This record gives sequence, structure tokens and C-alpha cells, in this order.
Amino acid sequence: MKQKTIIITGVSKGIGLETVKVFLSNNWLVIGLGRKKPEISHSNFLFIPCEISNYSSVEIAVKTAKEHTQGQIDVLLNNAGFGVFGGITDLPIEKWEEMFQVNVHGLMYVTREVVPMMRKKQSGHIINISSIAGLNGIVNGSGYAATKHAVKGISHSLYAELRNDGIKVTAVYPGSVKTNFFDEVDGITANDNMLDPKDVAEAIWYLANTSPNFLPVDFEIRPLNPNTKK
Ligand SMILES: NC(=O)c1ccc[n+]([C@@H]2O[C@H](COP(=O)([O-])OP(=O)(O)OC[C@H]3O[C@@H](n4cnc5c(N)ncnc54)[C@H](OP(=O)(O)O)[C@@H]3O)[C@@H](O)[C@H]2O)c1
Repeated sequence: MKQKTIIITGVSKGIGLETVKVFLSNNWLVIGLGRKKPEISHSNFLFIPCEISNYSSVEIAVKTAKEHTQGQIDVLLNNAGFGVFGGITDLPIEKWEEMFQVNVHGLMYVTREVVPMMRKKQSGHIINISSIAGLNGIVNGSGYAATKHAVKGISHSLYAELRNDGIKVTAVYPGSVKTNFFDEVDGITANDNMLDPKDVAEAIWYLANTSPNFLPVDFEIRPLNPNTKK
């Protein structure tokens, strides 16, 4: 069987890193785009340095990925992202803007560059990591929630736009995941009641392997026990 290829953004840690491992263990070619190379040396892993928030950097990185694969990209996982929290009058304007630059604009830049390759072969799957914050509001999280609602809007628009080209688009909405995401979040520490990033990676594996005429549009995942049992 022909080897399949996935591009993943943000692979240095967390959900992105665990997804790299799952796809490598299933013999896919994995291309990681991001600022920091993970400690993975595997013949099927290619890391391409990329600042997701910079369109020129994305153009160059995706061009390299295209040359390496002859344009045969099966899945794009738009994962790179971060959250900064604070009240509407407290959150520095530049933090609000940086979140949009990475979580929204960066996702659009990579997608815009990858879609022509998928269109050409009339198949592909774009999986966008939104969040529960893409479905609900969060106190002191208006900026982050706004970016993740935008990811939902982009995903819903694109699934309708691209389905006739044989391209699936799925938005994933995880609840809290035990990753470094919370390092910068005051008052919340990553803990075992949160989702395990390995399980989120397995969910992405499931989505990437759904049958051709099956289009998962929204995929919400939450921890069963978000709080410590009393
Ligand atoms: N953890 C949660 O509770 C949770 C819940 C729902 C959704 N999410 C979403 O899941 C995704 C992954 O988050 P995570 O929990 O795995 O967090 P994480 O452990 O902090 O990982 C975030 C990844 O995104 C990359 N990234 C951030 N800014 C970037 C940029 N400008 N250019 C390139 N790469 C960049 C990081 O790379 P660097 O090392 O270069 O910074 C890192 O690899 C994010 O979109 C996040 O919003 C997380």
C-alpha cells in the first residue's frame, strides 16, 4: 500500500508531538512545521522550520514539503496555537493580536498553501484543532475564545467549499488537555483529570482514517472526570 503523508503544525510538544508519534508508528510520512524541532529522529519524519504567523515563512515551508512529497499530502493537521488569558481591560493588545496571528491567520496561511495540492489529486483531509473555547465563552478568555470560534467558522465554511473536491474538513474541540498549554495560564495547572494528549492524538488518527464518503464535521472531546473525585 502507498505510504500516506501528514503535515502537522506545532510539533515540539503536546498534542502535535503525540500525533507525530502515532502517525510514525503507523508508518506514515510525517512532516512537522514549527519553530522548534522535537527530539525525534526517524527516517519517516521531516521537520521544516516555520513561523506559522508569517506568510512568507509558511509559503517556503509548504513549498519544501511539496518538493519532498511530489505534492502528495493526505492530511493537514492545523495544531499550532496558544492561549493567553486576561480580562478585557487587562490583556495586552499585542497578546490578543498574537493569538489571532497564530491561531487564525497562521492556520489560514498553511491551509491556503496546502489546498491546491489536495485539489489537484481530488482528495485530502484538513483537521483543525479548535477547542471547547470555540463553542462556549470563557471568563477572561475572550481573545482565545474568539480565535477558536474563528477556527470553527473557517472549518464549517471550508467543509462546504471543499467537499466537491474530495477534501474533508474537520474541526476538533478538545476540553482541557494535559500539556504545556497551561504553563502560561494563571490559576490552572495541567493535571491528570485533563485529557491525555496521547488520546487526542488517537482521535486524530481515527479521523484521518475514516472511510472516503464519511465526513466528520465536528468532533468534541472532553475528559470524563474533569474534577478530582471527592
Ligand atoms: N491543552 C489544552 O487544554 C487544549 C484544549 C483545546 C485546544 N487546544 C489547542 O491544541 C493545540 C495544541 O496545544 P497543546 O495543548 O498541545 O499546547 P502546547 O503543548 O503548548 O503546544 C503548542 C504547539 O504549538 C506550537 N506553536 C505555538 N505558536 C507557534 C508559532 N507561532 N509557530 C509555530 N508553532 C507554534 C508550539 O511550538 P513552539 O514550541 O515553537 O512554541 C507547540 O508545538 C493549540 O491549538 C491549542 O489551542 C489545547
